[in-house]
Amino acid sequence: MTTSTSPGTCTAVVGLHWGDEGKGKVVDLLAAEHDTVVRYNGGANAGHTVVVDGQKFALHLVPSGILYPGKLAVVGNGVVVDLEKLLEETEALEARGVSTESLVVSSRAHVVTAYHKLEDEFRERLAAGDGGGSAIGTTKRGIGPCYADKAQRATAVRIGDLLRPDALHEKLETACRFKRALLEGLDAGEALDADALTSRLSAVGERLRPRITDTTYLLHDQLRAGKRLLFEGGNATLLDVDHGTYPYVTSSNCTALGISTGTGVPGRGLDRVVGIMKAYTTRVGAGPMPTEQKNETGNRIRERGREYGTTTGRPRRCGWLDLVATRYSVMINGVTDVALMLFDVLAGFDQIQVCTAYDVAGERTDRFLPDGIDLAHAEPVYQSLPGFSEEITAVRARRDLPATAQKYVDFIEEFLGVRVSIISVGPGREQTLLA
Ligand code: GDP
Ligand code: IMO
Ligand code: MG
Repeated sequence: MTTSTSPGTCTAVVGLHWGDEGKGKVVDLLAAEHDTVVRYNGGANAGHTVVVDGQKFALHLVPSGILYPGKLAVVGNGVVVDLEKLLEETEALEARGVSTESLVVSSRAHVVTAYHKLEDEFRERLAAGDGGGSAIGTTKRGIGPCYADKAQRATAVRIGDLLRPDALHEKLETACRFKRALLEGLDAGEALDADALTSRLSAVGERLRPRITDTTYLLHDQLRAGKRLLFEGGNATLLDVDHGTYPYVTSSNCTALGISTGTGVPGRGLDRVVGIMKAYTTRVGAGPMPTEQKNETGNRIRERGREYGTTTGRPRRCGWLDLVATRYSVMINGVTDVALMLFDVLAGFDQIQVCTAYDVAGERTDRFLPDGIDLAHAEPVYQSLPGFSEEITAVRARRDLPATAQKYVDFIEEFLGVRVSIISVGPGREQTLLA
């Protein structure tokens, strides 16, 4: 399948909400017209679903383009890699007949270890205190602690270190010393034993050796050879550590702005930025979500959209589409066109609400509040649009959508100021309308 827009040299796919917008499906679609698919941020906190011929694949670290044979799959330097999860994932794919031979990993990507996952859990428990406190509701995949160590330097391990056992051992001894002090009293077993960690990680390193490379030079070589690159954002804009609803965010730059640092490819090479949005809004974990519906509407969306986490299985918080937040994300990412996902889920509502402004302490604003404390005080202002009763999962052209559904898409385009180029009406590859 090809889209109606001509492929650029570089395309980015980024989530415009709080994750799980359907990035995996769109990356899979666009992979057809690209040569290389690149992850640049996050780690196994991401869960990207692709459904091919009724078969469902959930990808966490491996770029979603892997399902197209012949595509180079790259895990860039900005990703934090849980090696055991990566091996599990490649083995599971191979067992299902998907070749992962083309997968390469940056020698400068950081390694998520067992103690990062312990630390993630430990911090969340401490932050929660007695009554919920300031826990973030992380995926407990060790993402925050690993990025923190990257910034701290002395306690960090990079993929390239796995191939230098002596240096690795020294680094792990330092790291374990720090972590033992931090995780005092916790029975960490082998997770804080530098010898055991060294032998385990070196063994994994040996298995990974053929895949470990300088991905920055590789990507620049590709660009010079005229190859088309597709960047796959993990997590999403409102979870970006700088531009999201801090502190209720993840620890990386999930936006298109993160591509340069996460891969070494300068931003000016980007021709197309596809923003992925749901026809409504969801969020997993803690933090404000102005349009959340803790009622029958939210429950209906959750059940129709099967809104349960791909990574953790947690029920997602569901609510109406927040266009104030979405327009902010379009601005931050330099979005060129939008994919409107899970549109089929909204069938059957008499009226559909969309949030077009916030009331904050009696003042109306159409600006997003990219701060988790400020945003908690925003009251959504809704505009009501007529719904559609017909199921739309079998529709294949925008003009064949019910008239009110077409109006919903028109309204979104006008509000966001960008074209909706893809409309998705089901999880399958074929359930896609290209506009
Ligand atoms: P990602 O993290 O952005 O890749 O999204 P997830 O895979 O975590 O969550 C999106 C879910 O919606 C997955 O279960 C997809 O299979 C599913 N999905 C994607 N597009 C559609 C759609 O248009 N309609 C429906 N009903 N499901 C969809
Ligand atoms: P994809 O790529 C949804 C959320 C977590 C938590 C916060 C911090 O599938 O869209 P972390 O473990 O990263 O420290 O958790 O970020 N979160 C996601 N929510 N989809 C994701 O990824 C997410 N990645 C992180 O729920 O609130
Ligand atoms: Mg997901």
